[in-house]
Amino acid sequence: MSLQRVLTGITTSGTPHLGNYAGAIRPAVAASKKSGVESFYFLADYHALVKVQDPARVQRSTLEIAAAWLACGLNPERVWFYRQSDIPEIPELTWLLTCVAGKGLLNRAHAYKAAVDRNLSENQDPDAGINAGLFMYPVLMAADILMFRAHQVPVGRDQVQHIEMARDFGARFNHLYGEPAGKQYFTLPEAAVEDSVATLPGLDGRKMSKSYDNTIPLFAPPAELKKLILSIKTDSRAPGQAKDTDGSALFQLYQAFATSEETEAMRRAYADGIAWGEAKQMLFECIDREVAPMREHYEALIAKPVEIEATLREGAAKARKIATPFMAELRRAVGLRPLHEQGEVKVVATTKAALPMFKQYREADGKFYFKLLDADGALLLQSTGFDSPKDAGRCIADLKSDTAVDGMAALAEGVEMARVAAVLSALKLAENE
Ligand code: TRP
Repeated sequence: MSLQRVLTGITTSGTPHLGNYAGAIRPAVAASKKSGVESFYFLADYHALVKVQDPARVQRSTLEIAAAWLACGLNPERVWFYRQSDIPEIPELTWLLTCVAGKGLLNRAHAYKAAVDRNLSENQDPDAGINAGLFMYPVLMAADILMFRAHQVPVGRDQVQHIEMARDFGARFNHLYGEPAGKQYFTLPEAAVEDSVATLPGLDGRKMSKSYDNTIPLFAPPAELKKLILSIKTDSRAPGQAKDTDGSALFQLYQAFATSEETEAMRRAYADGIAWGEAKQMLFECIDREVAPMREHYEALIAKPVEIEATLREGAAKARKIATPFMAELRRAVGLRPLHEQGEVKVVATTKAALPMFKQYREADGKFYFKLLDADGALLLQSTGFDSPKDAGRCIADLKSDTAVDGMAALAEGVEMARVAAVLSALKLAENE
């Protein structure tokens, strides 16, 4: 089997938090170490501009997220690790896809529709305050994916619709521009939603997310990490009272970082009425145990933005080895090409090679004839006249079944018997396929 390409993007709109780590970074770094896969991980900074219009924040987030991935063990030599805005072919492809994307399909994208619905519920103009970037978001994302012909795209559930749209745009493009020449420019990607991967709860028990402002930064200094953990919402059960693991954010966070034995011990401690303060201390120690070594590495990286910049630029050069020639091919495909250049040869109907063939016909003398033409239409064999089409047909059948040619038909001028035999056997092979 050929190598599987796995690709995913991380929007550079904030500081990486524990939810990003357990849900995306940790599993992706582990997957990138497997053989048989080619991993593409990139910083989606163009996507960030849709929501974040604070330049310092976009820049800082890009630095932090790049440093986080590297600190968590991503090896840029083994994978393709780059920044979206370093690949000019991506916005270029975005335009080609924009021109095959159905506007109606984009109208139905969840994120855009939710924004419209919010406006409507507030009696506002449907598109009030909505930038066209939000509307075009799925097309840019499709360009990210299709550019590198990814097979698998690990994403959260909320992103599955975007992968389906990428398939739709890719298939339309293939149909429109690839079909006449039998070419599939784009690989149609699949969403890989890992249900086993943890979705971590945040401080308030809802999903940990920048938009809820309930996150725990992955590399918060230990004192801040501890303070945040102490602020996790719990119920008011007193020490000694049995506690419920179901729906406990604290327990779920613990589970994401503890060994299975530790998790079982914590489950018993809940039943035995562990004090919330004590459980929080255990959670802190458990998270810090995993994060501390990476935190040191992270801080060293963050202190050297020049080095991270260099790593990203090397990553971009590596990615552009794929993107630049592919984009050139796509430009030609749509007709953006030198005026003297011939386009793709349009092979009508079938891409199968032409076959040699027998042609039967009747002449003015009332007799029935046939001839054998090779794949290019050159005459190889000319029959004598037969009294009925049936006799001519039988002779063709005999020829095909290797009976001697002698006496039944005449070789055309300059043709050797060996050539006729070869053509006949090619015809037989093709017919048996
Ligand atoms: N939209 C994705 C998110 O917010 C980020 C992203 C951008 C992405 N381009 C991508 C994910 C391409 C996968 C593939 O999570």
